[in-house]
Amino acid sequence: MPNAHTTSPKLIDQFGRQVDYIRLSITDRCDFRCVYCMSEDMTFLSRDEVLSLEECARLVRIFVQLGVSKVRITGGEPLVRKNALWLFNEIGQLKGLHELVLTTNGSQLAKQAAALKQAGVKRINISVDSLQPERFNRITRTGHLAQVLDGLRAAIAAGFEGIKLNTVLMRDTNDDEAEDLVAFAIQHQIDISFIEEMPLGEVNHTRDSTFVSNLDTLKRLQSKYSLIPSTHSSGGPARYWQVANANTKIGFISPHSHNFCESCNRVRISCKGELFLCLGQEDKVELMPLLRAHPTNDAPVIEAILNSMSIKPKGHDFDLKRAAPAVVRFMSHTGG
Ligand code: 5AD
Ligand code: SF4
Repeated sequence: MPNAHTTSPKLIDQFGRQVDYIRLSITDRCDFRCVYCMSEDMTFLSRDEVLSLEECARLVRIFVQLGVSKVRITGGEPLVRKNALWLFNEIGQLKGLHELVLTTNGSQLAKQAAALKQAGVKRINISVDSLQPERFNRITRTGHLAQVLDGLRAAIAAGFEGIKLNTVLMRDTNDDEAEDLVAFAIQHQIDISFIEEMPLGEVNHTRDSTFVSNLDTLKRLQSKYSLIPSTHSSGGPARYWQVANANTKIGFISPHSHNFCESCNRVRISCKGELFLCLGQEDKVELMPLLRAHPTNDAPVIEAILNSMSIKPKGHDFDLKRAAPAVVRFMSHTGG
C-alpha cells in the first residue's frame, strides 16, 4: 500500500490492485448490429440518459487526477457519436495521461483516422470478424467490409503506434478464417486478438453451440505458423504470441478464464455514467447523478470513486452452462 503522503496512485482496491486504466463507453449506439452483441432491433438510450461529452471529459480528467494513466474510448461505436473528436482532443491534452486508445468497428475511420491521430490517440483496435464481404455482412447485419478496410488503410496511413484487429470466432460461422485473418494481419504488419465469445446481453444467438475456445484456435494456428510465446502484456486478459519472422503479435482473450482477475487494473464506465468495477459483476456506482448535482464541485464525484474501490470484486462469474447469461448487459452499453 502507498504511504499516506504519496499523492498518487489513489485508486487501490481491497485486494491491493491499482486501477490505472479506465474504459469509457461514450455511446450505446452503433451503425452495426453484430449477432453476438446486439439484437436486430435495438432501443437506444435518449440523449439526456447518456453522459454529455463535457461530462465524459470531466470524468476522465478526474480519473487522471486519481492516477489513471490509460483511457480506452469504446461504445457502441464511439465514432458515430456526434462531435466525438472534440472529446478526443480534450482528453489528448490531459497531463498525466500516457495512453489514449480506441476500440472501433472501423466504419468511420476513413474520415476520422488522421484527426484521431492528431488528437493524441496512440493505438486503435478494430473489430473484424471476417474478410469475406458476405459473411462480414451476415455477422454485422448492417456492416460493409469494404468500408472497414478503407478505414483500416486510413489508420495505417495515419501512423498510429499500434493497430490491432479484434476477432470473435464462432463455430460454423467464421471459425475457418483464423488462418486467413492472421495472414492478413501479417501482410499489414498489425496485431490481431481472438476474443472468446462472452455471455453478454439478451442476444438471440445460441452461444453454447457457437463457442470456440482459444485453445483450439491456438492449436490451429500453430500448425500453420511458428508462434513464440511473448512476454508482452497489455495488463489485461490477453496472452500474446509473436509470429516468427513477422511484425505481428497474436493475442488470445479468454474472458472465461479467471487467471487475469488477480492483476486486474481497470474499471469501466458506461455511457450512462455507471462505474462498473468488474466486467462480470453487477457492482456499480452511479456517477451521473453526482456529476449533475455538483456541476462545479468535483469533491463528491472523487469521493464516490475512491469509495468504489472497496466494492471492486475479486473476480468475475461467467458460466456458459448457466441457463441465463451471468450478466444481462449489452457490451455496447458497458463498453467491452
Ligand atoms: N463476446 C465477445 N466479444 C464481444 N464483443 C462485443 N460483444 C461481444 C461478446 N458478446 C467484441 C467486439 C469488439 C470488442 C470491443 O468486443 O467484437 O471487438
Ligand atoms: Fe457495434 Fe461493436 Fe457491438 Fe458490433 S460488436 S454491434 S460493431 S458495438
